[in-house]
Amino acid sequence: MLRTARSALACAVLACAVLACAVLACAVLAAAAGPPVAAATLTLSCGGGVQADTCRDAAQRWARQQGHQVRFVDLPNSSTERLALIQQMLAGHSARIDVYPLDIVWPGQLASELIDLRPYLRPADIEGFAQADLRSDTVDGRLVALPYFADVPLLYYRKDLLDAFGLPVPRSWDELGRVAAEAQRRARAAGQPRIWGYVWQGAAYEGLSCNALEWIASAGGGTLVDARSGRVTVDNPRARAALDMARGWIGTISPLDVLNMHEEQARAAFQSGHAVFMRNWPYARALLEHPRSPVRGRVGVAPLPAGAGGNTAATLGGWQFAVSRHSRHPREATALIAYLTAPQQQRTDALQAGLLPTRTALYDDAELRASLPDFAVLTQALRAAVERPSSVTRARYARVSAAFSDAVHDIVSGRSATGPTLRRLQRRLQHMAPDGAWN
Ligand code: GLC
Repeated sequence: MLRTARSALACAVLACAVLACAVLACAVLAAAAGPPVAAATLTLSCGGGVQADTCRDAAQRWARQQGHQVRFVDLPNSSTERLALIQQMLAGHSARIDVYPLDIVWPGQLASELIDLRPYLRPADIEGFAQADLRSDTVDGRLVALPYFADVPLLYYRKDLLDAFGLPVPRSWDELGRVAAEAQRRARAAGQPRIWGYVWQGAAYEGLSCNALEWIASAGGGTLVDARSGRVTVDNPRARAALDMARGWIGTISPLDVLNMHEEQARAAFQSGHAVFMRNWPYARALLEHPRSPVRGRVGVAPLPAGAGGNTAATLGGWQFAVSRHSRHPREATALIAYLTAPQQQRTDALQAGLLPTRTALYDDAELRASLPDFAVLTQALRAAVERPSSVTRARYARVSAAFSDAVHDIVSGRSATGPTLRRLQRRLQHMAPDGAWN
């Protein structure tokens, strides 16, 4: 009994000695690794939509690995509303959100309220991004955001209906008008009275600017403001014809309601079987193929149709992450966004949520190519991408785009005539930048 107690005591002493050694060893190692990093709590907005889940998972993983905490904030889905809220928070010097998701067209607008990330980044953090993305994230030599995912619109169509009616996937806008009208007529006659030919984003906001830019640029009518000279080009005969074409769709192949649609309303109409064609971004694909989606397995995708000039034009979209100038943890916040935009994470985002990488090498990744069903169409669309004139109009892009989408909305809704409205828009934009000087 006594012997058992003694050996237990000896064991305990030995165990304590081992523990003390371990603690000492840890302390020595920690000292060698530099001062202990204080745990930070970072607040991040992942935006909304399907990408939010993979973004949250990745941010949580980073926080666990680094001994920090992350909190999440939701922001409105509409790009225009989201910008207004972010501007308000930044103007109020709010430290509530450390990391913001930025639309590709915003860095020039928000740069003064964002930190320059370069001092906190390693060279590998910035290598291999697509040039167009890095260009729009660099303002006056300061890198104010890191590209998170690229976006490019597609033409979604009801494969089952086109097959049943023996109709082709349209390659030009003119053909889209004809095929959508015919498919709509036949589907209605076959017992779907509420179906329409084509849904898109027609509310007066950034999404309509993207749609209208595509109609105009694909007709050879330019990109509203010339990216090189800064000159306003919007009032021209090709732009007028392109907008007249879209105006002709309302009430014929597109419901009146399209004039209130953002991305999600268009998707809801298409997903519930109320449209033959839809213009939307790649995020819609996973939702349309959801097990409970009424159109699952019946949808095809194609590049947007070509315009009168024979070109297709797909607006280059995409999202970035940036760190607020008012963040109390700029170093940790930058480390978090470097993690979220790293090649390995972009690969996971592509495989899990279908997000298009902004690291160009991933487009040669065999597993990605094989597992993303639309990869070939998406890369084709990316090659035809046109940039909105945000880099040239800088801090005034949001005003330019709002004036554009308001004018287009007036035209396509039939509220005002195309010619005079474009002339007024041209004058208004020229007034913002006499002689093309936007600085
Ligand atoms: C998508 C694009 C973005 C664009 C927006 C318009 O989110 O990624 O660049 O501004 O749609 O609604």
